Amino acid sequence: MSLLSERDLSRRDVEALLYRADEMRGLLPRGTDIAKHKIVANLFFEPSTRTNYSHQAAALRIGAQVLAFNPAASSVSKGESFEDTIRMFDNYADLLVIRHPQEGAAARAAAVAKHPVVNAGDGGASHPTQMLIDLYTIWRLKHKLSGLNIVLMGDLLHARAMRSLYWGLAMFNSTVTLVSPKSLRMEPAHMKEVESVFGFRAKESERLDITDADILYVCRIQKERFKKKKEAELAARKFRLTREHLKGCKDDLAILHPLPKLDEIAQDIDPLPHAKYFEQAANAVPVRMAILAREFGI
Ligand code: NCD
Repeated sequence: MSLLSERDLSRRDVEALLYRADEMRGLLPRGTDIAKHKIVANLFFEPSTRTNYSHQAAALRIGAQVLAFNPAASSVSKGESFEDTIRMFDNYADLLVIRHPQEGAAARAAAVAKHPVVNAGDGGASHPTQMLIDLYTIWRLKHKLSGLNIVLMGDLLHARAMRSLYWGLAMFNSTVTLVSPKSLRMEPAHMKEVESVFGFRAKESERLDITDADILYVCRIQKERFKKKKEAELAARKFRLTREHLKGCKDDLAILHPLPKLDEIAQDIDPLPHAKYFEQAANAVPVRMAILAREFGI
C-alpha cells in the first residue's frame, strides 16, 4: 500500500490518519515499539532537513530501524540507475521513503519495488506527507477543516507542497484564495483536475488581503525549479510578508509555511503568536509515525 500522491487517499483515509497522528502524539516523547524489527530506507536524492530527519525520527519513535542514504556516497555516483538503486534497497528494507527532483520518481520506484513506497516529494508534482502535516496542523489549531478562509501565497507553480495542499483543502471544502505573481500561478491543469474531482475552485489574486483569513500559508520561491534564476529573484523580492501586512488581520490568524523559509517572511514575524510554522514542523513526527504505521499495515 504505497503513498505516491494525495490522490491515493480518500477523505476517510485522511481523517483516519489525522486521528492516528493525534494518538501518536500522545505517545511522545517515548514513542512505541509497534514497528519493532522493521527497517525503513530513507532515500533522499534531493536536499532535505525536515522531511528526511522527521521521517527518520518517526521511524525510530515507532520502534523501526532506519537506513539513511547519501547518493553522493553510493553507487549512484558511479552511474547506477535509479531503478537498480531502488531494487537494492527493496532487498534491505521493508519500506522505502523517496525524495527525488524528478516528477513521477516515487511511482517509478513503486513499479520495481515489492515493498511500499512513500513519496517524500517528487519534483514539482506532489508532496502527500506534507499535505497531511498541513491538514493536521490546521485541524489542531482550528478544530475543523471546513468553513475556513485560507490564503495560499508564493510560488504556486513550482511548489509541490502547495499543489498537494490545494487538493487536501478541496477535499474538506474551505474557502481558498491563491495569491501569486501571474507567472507563478498554480497550474491550470491541476486546478481543473481538482475541480472535476471535488467541484472546488479557489479565487486567484495578485494582491494579498488577509482581513478575513484564518490561515495564511506562505511558501518559498522554488528557485531550483526555475529555468531563469533572475526571474526567481525578482519574484522573491515582490512576495514578502512583513508586519505591515498583518495590520487588521484576525487575532487568531495562523501563519504556516512548509519550511525552509528564506526571506519571504520577515524575521520579526517569528516571535508573533500568529507564527505557527515551527509548531507545524514539529507535527511532522507524529503525522509521519501514523503514515509509516499505516504503510506497515500496523
Ligand atoms: C518543502 C519541499 O521540499 O517541497 N519542504 C518540505 O518538505 N518541508 C518546501 C520547499 O522546499 O520550499
